[in-house]
Amino acid sequence: MVLHEILKQYPRTEDSLIEILLAYQAEKKDHFISNEEIAEIAQYVQTTESKVCSVLSFYTFFSNKPRGRYIIYVCKDVPCYVNESANIVRTLERLLGIKVGETTPNKMFTLEYASCLGYCNQAPAMRIDGKTYTDLNPDKVKAIISEYRGKQNA
Ligand code: FES
Repeated sequence: MVLHEILKQYPRTEDSLIEILLAYQAEKKDHFISNEEIAEIAQYVQTTESKVCSVLSFYTFFSNKPRGRYIIYVCKDVPCYVNESANIVRTLERLLGIKVGETTPNKMFTLEYASCLGYCNQAPAMRIDGKTYTDLNPDKVKAIISEYRGKQNA
């Protein structure tokens, strides 16, 4: 869906800004908001481009640079940390050949940290494409990544 089609679903006020950014970023294959799009959104909600930029930089789930088709969010909060989330991150970095904050060269995966995903009692947890995976261990992570790679090749 192109940006102007999303914009017309929301009131032309600054209060709509976060909802518009969320809806549009989710719609884009590369999950980011470009400078041209920032300008168009700012004009639509009748605010400044710097206001849109400040919202984008405040919330970690927004990005102003291209990301992969699948964004892997690994919870970094304490309950997950004490349940070996660092080992999950190491496993993902090894499997994908990237560090946290990077995107694979084929643009398939971006690896990022997230705050609590709401599954602390099943830690460690991560989310990919809106689906949450819990009670993770390295073998489970390998199987999940293989599943996504299979989707891409299907
Ligand atoms: S702390 Fe990781 S899901 Fe809550």
